[in-house]
Amino acid sequence: MTTSKPIPEVVLIEGDGIGPEISEAVLYILEHAGARITWKKASAGLGAFEACGTALPEETIEAIRTTRVALKGPTTTPIGGGFRSINVQLRKELDLYANFRPIKSFPQLKTRYEDVDIVFIRENTEGLYSGLEHEIVPGVVTSLKVSTRVASLRIAEFAFSYAERAGRKKVTAIHKANIMKLSDGLALECYREIANQHPQIEYDERIIDATAMALVLDPSPFDVLVMENLYGDILSDLGAGLIGGLGLAPSGNFGQNCAVFEAVHGSAPDIAGMSVANPSALLLSSLELLEYLGQTNCAKRVSRALQKTFETKEICTADLGGTSGTMDFAKEVCKRLDE
Ligand code: NAI
Repeated sequence: MTTSKPIPEVVLIEGDGIGPEISEAVLYILEHAGARITWKKASAGLGAFEACGTALPEETIEAIRTTRVALKGPTTTPIGGGFRSINVQLRKELDLYANFRPIKSFPQLKTRYEDVDIVFIRENTEGLYSGLEHEIVPGVVTSLKVSTRVASLRIAEFAFSYAERAGRKKVTAIHKANIMKLSDGLALECYREIANQHPQIEYDERIIDATAMALVLDPSPFDVLVMENLYGDILSDLGAGLIGGLGLAPSGNFGQNCAVFEAVHGSAPDIAGMSVANPSALLLSSLELLEYLGQTNCAKRVSRALQKTFETKEICTADLGGTSGTMDFAKEVCKRLDE
């Protein structure tokens, strides 16, 4: 007698802005590809805030604690006031300490560089995102950057273990320890300690500002980059620019017990509601999710269909130079699933 594996439950947060549009497209493609997932919809973002006064309801966090895995659309964070970022809250609540952001060229898309293949690994729980801001006196504000040994050691271990598993050659630590001698200095000490435990992986260190320039001039020497929260946020967007834009950059947030997959980009209010957003970044994040669930064949099939869609260039969203809508693009990917 054969017993088929139970269908995993995954929390889906559609988010706001372009979130619902790209989520619809991704679910459509995954359903056509035969992904074995039971979606449990949960709310977060502007809609949740308007409906129940909290942008990240406790039930949503509980749902992810139960399923241990989620796919999340982007959520808007008010600027200069208002509620705290849902992403920062979620990452802290679920201790999703590692943000994994692979940036890889699509040979079918013409960009300045053809062979970018860099993984940005960002510490997700501390640094300047700790939300410890104070007005000392009117006109004087401080924002505390938190750096701990525990967090720096575990993000370094995540980076080196990943590099080993994936057959990568080098881990580069990105820092500004020439100026932030204590906080970034502590992080560097921890990275070096872990590097010594992985002698088969080359290790080097670079200062953040010079790294930004070097990445733009020639991304080829870079392999796996590990860094604190803010540096990872900024440099990975730069990385997305190297391969054609934010519409192509996926990510996964990992903790000991949970994983939340989401695109690198935000809610793109400038194009929200127009059905023109590129769903590829969230789709690529969902492929990371399928791999995580052990549905590798399904992930590979969708990945091939996406590449064929890029190759033919008949249907392409505006960010990649086309005029197609989000769902037209999704339907085209589905058409190519069985080619
Ligand atoms: P953004 O990433 O939303 O947009 C930057 C630019 O990229 C815009 O011109 C947008 O139209 C374009 N873009 C982004 N995704 C695209 C896609 N899939 N297809 C085509 N074009 C795309 O960054 P922005 O405008 O700085 O942030 C908007 C909001 O999103 C803010 O409230 C921010 O806090 C939030 N945000 C949320 C994130 C998340 O939920 N993980 C991540 C980053 C920002």
